[in-house]
Amino acid sequence: MFSKNFPKLTQLIPRQGASLNGKLSTTSAQAAQLKGLENEPNEPIIKTNIPGPKSKELISEIGNIQQAGTVVFFTDYEKSTGNYIADADGNHLLDIYMQIASLPLGYNHPDIQKVIANPKNHNIFVNRPALGTNPPMYLFEKLSNIINSVAPKGLNMIQTMACGSCANENAYKAIFIRYNTLMRGGKELTQEDLNECVMNKGPGCPDLSILSFKGGFHGRTLGALATTHSKAIHKLDVPTLDWPIAPFPRYKYPLEENTEYNKKQDEECLKEIEQIIDHFNTVVKKPVAGIVVEPIQSEGGDHHGSPYFFQQLQKLGKKHNSMLLIDEVQTGLGATGKLWAHEHFNLPESPDLMTFAKKMQIGGYFYSDKFKTQPYRIFNTWLGDPARILFLEETLNVIKRDNLIQLNKEVGDYLLANLRNLCKTYPGLIANARGLGTFCAFDGATAKIRDDLILKLKNMGIQCGASGDVAFRIRPSLIFTKNHTDIFVDRLDKALKSF
Ligand SMILES: Cc1ncc(COP(=O)(O)O)c(C=O)c1O
Repeated sequence: MFSKNFPKLTQLIPRQGASLNGKLSTTSAQAAQLKGLENEPNEPIIKTNIPGPKSKELISEIGNIQQAGTVVFFTDYEKSTGNYIADADGNHLLDIYMQIASLPLGYNHPDIQKVIANPKNHNIFVNRPALGTNPPMYLFEKLSNIINSVAPKGLNMIQTMACGSCANENAYKAIFIRYNTLMRGGKELTQEDLNECVMNKGPGCPDLSILSFKGGFHGRTLGALATTHSKAIHKLDVPTLDWPIAPFPRYKYPLEENTEYNKKQDEECLKEIEQIIDHFNTVVKKPVAGIVVEPIQSEGGDHHGSPYFFQQLQKLGKKHNSMLLIDEVQTGLGATGKLWAHEHFNLPESPDLMTFAKKMQIGGYFYSDKFKTQPYRIFNTWLGDPARILFLEETLNVIKRDNLIQLNKEVGDYLLANLRNLCKTYPGLIANARGLGTFCAFDGATAKIRDDLILKLKNMGIQCGASGDVAFRIRPSLIFTKNHTDIFVDRLDKALKSF
């Protein structure tokens, strides 16, 4: 079933000298010319309005058994290839959104197909293990390979989970457990600790908190949701934890023309963050055990923080014994032209923990051994999915072999230059082009203009997304090339002209 018609890369990238962080790259020029997968269409193919009649029918059917208000169109995954998503009505759209930023190699990548076709792997697809109790024999080798190739320096342990929300959720628990262990100062647990915690009471259930940021997004499960502040729709009617919420910088663009204003933003936010930590530690008496932050606030509207801001934030955390958790769920695995977005910040050391999901195919977090807990304290039935670990291993091989992080950086620079030009051409409609690698965005003058633009582009064959109040976000795969950028920019220009 999977062996026929594997798409092939039209132009293979020389393999020598490539590394995951691009440091050894000697192949950047060739990488930037990579065209995509062999049987991708040359350009979008649009036959109907989107959603088309078949999608509409399916949306109406599924609406009878679940909430279908979020469905854009039904997808034909067999016909989707590389950077192009095919829908139920025979349309093929250039996908610069990639399943909410989660597909690193596009659709039906030949090397991932090979993992599925390999009979040696079939037992893992047939038998889904409970990884914490009966892991497959190869687990140590696979996870060690992942740690060796992508873990931030010093974070030499990994906890796998199913998704980004539960990655954060469990990383928060790891922070609290570490914090309280330190606070106990080696004292034995008392019977009171054990009895009371079961009833949600102290001292075993301590009043600690995680500081998060206005506009941040860390997931929709209850603990993660308490640190999510991007949109009311995520939070409405759900009780939450009263944890500290601090301001995150809001810059003016282009950055190089607004350095003074932006530096002031950094300083004001940092000052307020420290005041809030102090207040929670000493007045509210809900000590800030951890700080959770995205390198770029993604769902909240693509808000960036400077290297200076993040360096100072790390310092503040250390000063107040608040552990720093960087959430790379959306920004991770090469999306910003570096392996992890926080590498752009030149932090003197790695964060205490770093969560991942989306492009990594499994959720989880990297940590150092000081966060290792007793058995069953961080645990659930599946603890992720070893089939996805196989896909991740192959994805990492392909990223390295094809020098895709370097490609992302070069294509991203090209994309951003084009977006800046369009902002100059259509100043009443769009502004504030920004980004790292292909992780780019710009703002619509209003939410309506942004939303209309997305709709127009969809019907011109571009699958794209929104973030925050007015941002248009771009989250292509790592095999997105200059060629694809040209097609997108051409359609964007035409769509803007039509307003
Ligand atoms: C930064 C960030 N953290 C956490 C999450 C939650 O991940 P998931 O949707 O896999 O639970 C997301 C999802 O968009 C995210 O962007």
